[in-house]
Amino acid sequence: MSVTIYVPRDSSALSVGAEAVAGAIAVEAARRNSDVILVRNGSRGLYWLEPMVEIETAQGRVAYGPVAMKDVASLFDADFLHGGRHVLCIGPTEKIPYLQKQERLTFARVGITDPLSLADYAVHGGWKGLRAALAMDGATAVKQVTDSGLRGRGGAAFPAGIKWKTVLDTSADQKYVVCNADEGDSGTYSDRMIMEGDPYVLIEGMAIAGIAVGATQGYIYVRSEYPHSCQVLAEAIALAKAGGYLGPDVLGSGKAFELEVRKGAGAYICGEETSLLESLEGKRGMVRFKPPLPAIAGLFGKPTVINNVITLASVPTIFANGAAHYRDFGMGRSRGTLPIQLAGNLKYCGLVEKAFGVTLRELLYDYGGGSASGRPLRAVQIGGPLGAYLPEQQFDTPLDYEAFMAIGAMVGHGGIVAFDDTVDMAGMARYAMEFCAIESCGKCTPCRIGSTRGVEVIDHIVSGLEREKNIALLEDLCDTMLNGSLCALGGMTPFPVQSALKYFPNDFRAAPKRKVA
Ligand SMILES: Cc1cc2nc3c(=O)[nH]c(=O)nc-3n(C[C@H](O)[C@H](O)[C@H](O)COP(=O)(O)O)c2cc1C
Ligand code: SF4
Repeated sequence: MSVTIYVPRDSSALSVGAEAVAGAIAVEAARRNSDVILVRNGSRGLYWLEPMVEIETAQGRVAYGPVAMKDVASLFDADFLHGGRHVLCIGPTEKIPYLQKQERLTFARVGITDPLSLADYAVHGGWKGLRAALAMDGATAVKQVTDSGLRGRGGAAFPAGIKWKTVLDTSADQKYVVCNADEGDSGTYSDRMIMEGDPYVLIEGMAIAGIAVGATQGYIYVRSEYPHSCQVLAEAIALAKAGGYLGPDVLGSGKAFELEVRKGAGAYICGEETSLLESLEGKRGMVRFKPPLPAIAGLFGKPTVINNVITLASVPTIFANGAAHYRDFGMGRSRGTLPIQLAGNLKYCGLVEKAFGVTLRELLYDYGGGSASGRPLRAVQIGGPLGAYLPEQQFDTPLDYEAFMAIGAMVGHGGIVAFDDTVDMAGMARYAMEFCAIESCGKCTPCRIGSTRGVEVIDHIVSGLEREKNIALLEDLCDTMLNGSLCALGGMTPFPVQSALKYFPNDFRAAPKRKVA
């Protein structure tokens, strides 16, 4: 009987040799006349174990990792095809504590299925949500999303149901659904993992959005640095179309929904929704004034639902299992689960999907295993390059949009970047200003000019030049950027700067006076 072997095709796994490992397994199996089926799955998100190879056994899947090409022969010798003992054996995949303690709703299938197999997707609960949505009228479908409490996962946490309702209630000859897959924030990769590991869940979510609001055309705007995502999505869209899940007559309903992939322009600002729409229209990615909201006049001036990948990929589970099931996860006004991405100086960087309410400390130590360097963790940045730096005393904050807002931080896209006590926080503040200066679209003065002046002022502070006066100047500049910028790039750049100044003031002293951590 043939044995099924899983080797991820996720780009992080590929970057550490998954392709070579898959090739070596195929060659070795042929040499030994072993009857194997090689499936290229998505990553389970345990990145320190990639390439993580799994074997389907009578007792479930058994994991081995990190596997290198040179290990393949010894794995065969150890009878890994039947879950044999080997120094790289992790044991049954489902029993790995990192996975066992998670609450995977949006990522339920990632790493389990063959990303491009329609049959696999259906066997694991796929298309149930779409079928449910097709049986509803638009208002009922939109109400499902509202009732689930789902808020946008791209950063601003705006309620998805309200956005969808605005598009539904705006009459037009054409409406669009646009998926924001620009994923430019530091330490974030959950969008990429979904696109590469379970593209049909995104396709299904977008089809549901289209059916709900009356949009017949969708676009996925993928960042240009994600070639594997583009390739998987293109193949998945073609297969979904051939299977009748997309096209002029979705599942025989008489309703149309077409989908295309568009490559991003390679600028951070193209992730901002109005800039993204400009870019999709073939123009330079510059921020548009709001109003009008994209929900009323978006792509080509038509009503447009624009949502992040994770927002849209969370929709099928809501329709398949009911709004109440999703809403039952989480705390306060932060409902459901969040795919959290651990990055930076941590022992175990990876994807953790948990209900809102999990604390930073649990994520950093129970999952992340503390710093990779073995030194104390000093700060984390969460919410991308515009997110605040949080000191150790705030590690007990639960992941909840409001709890984070209360401490001047934001959850954003759920990317956590950890730093140990060797980090220079003045340098990090300077980097935030520099990032803004480089990535500014240039439309408004506080952001365009303010960020360049911000870099200079920080340089003056750390070199000891009129320190107190320049700190006051920096605070004033932050205030101007915060209140005078047109979009959140200029408006949020002060967050990392102000938090660094507030919690790590010693780092801003001239070098000889700076306290060595
Ligand atoms: C400078 C800037 C960059 C952004 N980059 C992204 C991004 O890469 N991906 C994303 O989904 N949202 C990004 N956003 C947020 C989008 O403007 C918008 O809020 C989001 O696409 C709405 O989808 P959601 O409601 O599902 O979160 C960015 C915003 C700003 C100001
Ligand atoms: S804040 Fe910066 S990025 Fe945003 S509109 Fe103004 S110049 Fe452009």
